[in-house]
Amino acid sequence: MALLDKHAKVEKNVTLLLVLTLITVAIGGLVEIVPLYTIKNTIERVEGVRPYSPLELAGRDIYIREGCYLCHSQQVRPFRDEVERYGHYSLAAESMYDHPFQWGSKRTGPDLARVGGKYSNDWHAAHLADPRSLVPESVMPPYAFLYERNLRPEDYRAHLEANVAVGVPYSEEAIENAAADMRAQADPNGDHEALLARYPKAAVGDFDGQPDRLTEMDALIAYLQILGRMVDFTDVRPEDLTQN
Ligand code: HEC
Repeated sequence: MALLDKHAKVEKNVTLLLVLTLITVAIGGLVEIVPLYTIKNTIERVEGVRPYSPLELAGRDIYIREGCYLCHSQQVRPFRDEVERYGHYSLAAESMYDHPFQWGSKRTGPDLARVGGKYSNDWHAAHLADPRSLVPESVMPPYAFLYERNLRPEDYRAHLEANVAVGVPYSEEAIENAAADMRAQADPNGDHEALLARYPKAAVGDFDGQPDRLTEMDALIAYLQILGRMVDFTDVRPEDLTQN
């Protein structure tokens, strides 16, 4: 009874209620916020995660421009059904260089976090140009115009610099060579040594079937082909994949 009487006092005195409410909320806030200042980095680093190559970065820009995220998530959740369908659940570190990240929540189409390497470049080009030519029941729009739109490799130096400004660790050398790396990645006969040293596992080749042109189709496919491939999960056994 005594406790209820005291509570009645709080309920009748607006100022006291306000002060006590603020104290309660402040404690909750401190508990959540203070730890973020004390740990240097809340994301655990994972081996293999690297900044996107200039061509992949261009593809990512196109992915965002075209609103692919409106139908596709890039986040495998740690549930058995998701892991069995898509592969290892997504790690925070896998999107640490994504500005902004593309996790999403809408899945009109499948999750794309691990689509890299699932299909050939030719499949992607044909599917993007006319999804229903390969998947008759698909509701995905066609993006054939990407074949016609040329990339301007010289522009991408500035994109890398903008990413550096938000904390992506591109080296001076990577910035200097942005245009050259972009051309080399889409050229099957190009010199890939420097490119692959800077961007391990990058898919190389003529992505869009037009070897004499560097198009937005090349960039988008290069991006799709690296998704989920940076981290090597082959040592991880299936029973480690689910957390129930
Ligand atoms: C209106 C919704 C919608 C939009 C927008 C959309 N997609 Fe899709 N996408 C789908 C659907 C539905 C499927 C499954 C059927 C199919 O394969 O076409 C799909 C399938 C895919 C697949 C094959 C995935 C797999 O694992 O089989 C890829 C890759 C893909 N989309 C990429 C893209 C890209 C890149 C864009 C943006 C340029 C995009 N999608 C925009 C709905 C969409």
